[in-house]
Amino acid sequence: MRPSRFHEKGLYFIDELLAAAIGAGQPVLEPVGSMVINIGGGNTQAGVFSLGGLVCSGSLHNGGRELSRQIMEYVRKQYGIMIDISTAERAKMRIGSLLPQDMEIDQVTLNGRNMQTGMPDAAVVTTEEMREAINPVVTEIVDCIYQVLEQTPPDLAADLIENGVTATGGAVQMHGLIELIEERTHLKINLAKHTSDAVIRGVQKVMQDPSAWNGVFSDLLQ
Ligand SMILES: Nc1ncnc2c1ncn2[C@@H]1O[C@H](COP(=O)(O)OP(=O)(O)OP(=O)(O)O)[C@@H](O)[C@H]1O
Ligand SMILES: [Mg+2]
Repeated sequence: MRPSRFHEKGLYFIDELLAAAIGAGQPVLEPVGSMVINIGGGNTQAGVFSLGGLVCSGSLHNGGRELSRQIMEYVRKQYGIMIDISTAERAKMRIGSLLPQDMEIDQVTLNGRNMQTGMPDAAVVTTEEMREAINPVVTEIVDCIYQVLEQTPPDLAADLIENGVTATGGAVQMHGLIELIEERTHLKINLAKHTSDAVIRGVQKVMQDPSAWNGVFSDLLQ
């Protein structure tokens, strides 16, 4: 690639998901297909890479934060109690798993404010209720990933069957989510070693030697 006027000034643009793929150690420059999913707080992205480029992708303006918001909404509607987002976030992490398990904590006490009396109050919510509350958003996330696979050319799909898919982003740590994606896609999903900071690690890697990564920079603004 011809050095652009941005590169001369030390400015480079890279797709966020591609940076996550590089940060997770995917062979994005190679003539093979690799797929990365990134489920963050507000966004879900999925893409297939080959020869340094994005072959097909999909995204959704929903992620881990929406799962917590659904728990807040459920407690408000069902119990008339307003809890704050950090309480919902902690509850989400205590669900244990999106899949029913034998050894799970079966209920959580959520402190908030009674919407009728205005007084402090608490709701005791079962993990089963919380799972049901977030299920529609979980389904949207899994569908988004599935749709990218549907667009994947067959030769690259064969590489994904062989090597699996790499998962990045904080919300992939939600227990059971990986298993649900595996169930729907029939692919092996490998959790990246550094799920939450794959993007920044990818950026660091390319900035250490930009000339070695020429093919991955976006030329949209050149
Ligand atoms: N152990 C965990 N279990 C479930 N969810 C988790 C866990 N750890 C982090 N999360 C969720 O991960 C999300 C944050 O992920 P991440 O740091 O990748 O987001 P972000 O990069 O800030 O957001 P985005 O990429 O969407 O703009 C939050 O919704 C948080 O609740
Ligand atoms: Mg992110």
